[in-house]
Amino acid sequence: MPATLITGANRGLGLEHAKQFAGRGWRVFACARSPEVPALTELARQHDQVSLHALDVTDHEAVDTLAGELSGTSVDVLVNNAGTTGPKGTPEAMRYQSLANMDYQIWREMLEVNLLSAFKVATAFRDHVAASDRRLLVNMSSGLGSVTNNVTGNMYAYRSSKAGLNIITKGMAAEWQHLIVIAMSPGWCRTDLGGPDAQVDPVDSIRAQQELFDTLGPNDSGRYLDRFGDDVPW
Ligand SMILES: NC(=O)c1ccc[n+]([C@@H]2O[C@H](COP(=O)([O-])OP(=O)(O)OC[C@H]3O[C@@H](n4cnc5c(N)ncnc54)[C@H](OP(=O)(O)O)[C@@H]3O)[C@@H](O)[C@H]2O)c1
Repeated sequence: MPATLITGANRGLGLEHAKQFAGRGWRVFACARSPEVPALTELARQHDQVSLHALDVTDHEAVDTLAGELSGTSVDVLVNNAGTTGPKGTPEAMRYQSLANMDYQIWREMLEVNLLSAFKVATAFRDHVAASDRRLLVNMSSGLGSVTNNVTGNMYAYRSSKAGLNIITKGMAAEWQHLIVIAMSPGWCRTDLGGPDAQVDPVDSIRAQQELFDTLGPNDSGRYLDRFGDDVPW
């Protein structure tokens, strides 16, 4: 049975990944700061192969502890998903990360979650992924992390955290040649982060992502992909 480990699995895209992988019969390690929420406990009740793990990704000791507890367990797809635009989703998040108004504390917290913690989770679980059949590490980036496509400005904190995630993705792909490491742009999805006006239903984004994951091979490592498998310009 293939296995996935997902951070930020209690809501939004992480929860949908957990649901769809579970529905496909995968072993799911669903990690969240507070995993005891109805959506996850119900998922674990329905699927024996789903386990819940308390994990704040900014707590690096806790990341190491979980990696140690799961030592010897292979993880076919690591979904490095936990992320934030700060205390508000779209569009309110634009108000505290503009040229005119930057909240530096929120920026620091965003870098901590979206960039440093993603690096920590990837390095802590590298061996688990390397021991698997599929060996896929998915860093959940964003179209807003593209330097090329940034023609509007704003969202400085979030954009910089995801552009940072993109460059560590490229580096990991270069150094971990036995893994497939990608940066994923999931589309603008209706979650707390994406807001109610977003175009994409998370169910559709995750279905497309998981179909794509099934097709990826070693030559795809180091790519920045949208959910349909098209390259996003860096
Ligand atoms: N939605 C979009 O349009 C969109 C577009 C591009 C990229 N993305 C990316 O996709 C990923 C998921 O976003 P989403 O839309 O599902 O957002 P969301 O609904 O706001 O969910 C964010 C998830 O990240 C978790 N998280 C935040 N800080 C954490 C921490 N310190 N430790 C562990 N978990 C933490 C949250 O947990 P809590 O409930 O504990 O806060 C929640 O589970 C993010 O990386 C985001 O940047 C989303």
